[in-house]
Amino acid sequence: MGQNNLSEALNFYALNRPQKAEVASFYELYLSCFDDDPTRKWSQKGFEEILSLEGVAAHLCARGDNLSGFIIWRVTCDESEILNIGVAATDRQKGIGASLLNGMIARMEKEKIAKIFLEVREGNVEAKALYNNCGFKVTGRRKAYYSHQDGGREDAVIMTKLL
Ligand SMILES: CC(C)(COP(=O)(O)OP(=O)(O)OC[C@H]1O[C@@H](n2cnc3c(N)ncnc32)[C@H](O)[C@@H]1OP(=O)(O)O)[C@@H](O)C(=O)NCCC(=O)NCCS
Repeated sequence: MGQNNLSEALNFYALNRPQKAEVASFYELYLSCFDDDPTRKWSQKGFEEILSLEGVAAHLCARGDNLSGFIIWRVTCDESEILNIGVAATDRQKGIGASLLNGMIARMEKEKIAKIFLEVREGNVEAKALYNNCGFKVTGRRKAYYSHQDGGREDAVIMTKLL
């Protein structure tokens, strides 16, 4: 999938009927990816519930026994919403995020999905650049959508890609 110098060591795969231990490692990766995100909000229980929802699917990237990245989305009719994407801090800027996103887009094309959309924090420069690079356009904004732990608020930017 990815064009990067780690490609031989990386394994990209779909999460399929995960066992408890796999969900636990996945949640640990999620926590580590959003360590410094002031709006992080998924509890372990919430995370497990999301994974069990109808239409929710995920792709993971692992290097050896260690998870490096993930993307989670939800399909409803012919639309797909990216619920989250993250890459472990030590593995960033090596093409893993783009590989995960492009892999998901390719799967949505195969599944005849018409539109992919997502919400991203206004201040999340890295993620906005990633989505923009992969063909997503800004199509809306939700004012003060995210609450920071310190009480502050931040807009959500809505980005969309038509397939
Ligand atoms: C956003 C994230 C998933 C990107 O993963 P990544 O593996 O580092 O991304 P890649 O190496 O594949 O880079 C792909 C593109 O993303 C953008 N990007 C990635 N890191 C960036 C940075 N530090 N600054 C600016 N743009 C960046 C660039 O457009 C890059 O393309 P380029 O290398 O051709 O310039 C990663 O930074 C992350 O996990 N962030 C924390 C979690 C998060 O905010 N998720 C988004 C929720 S909406």
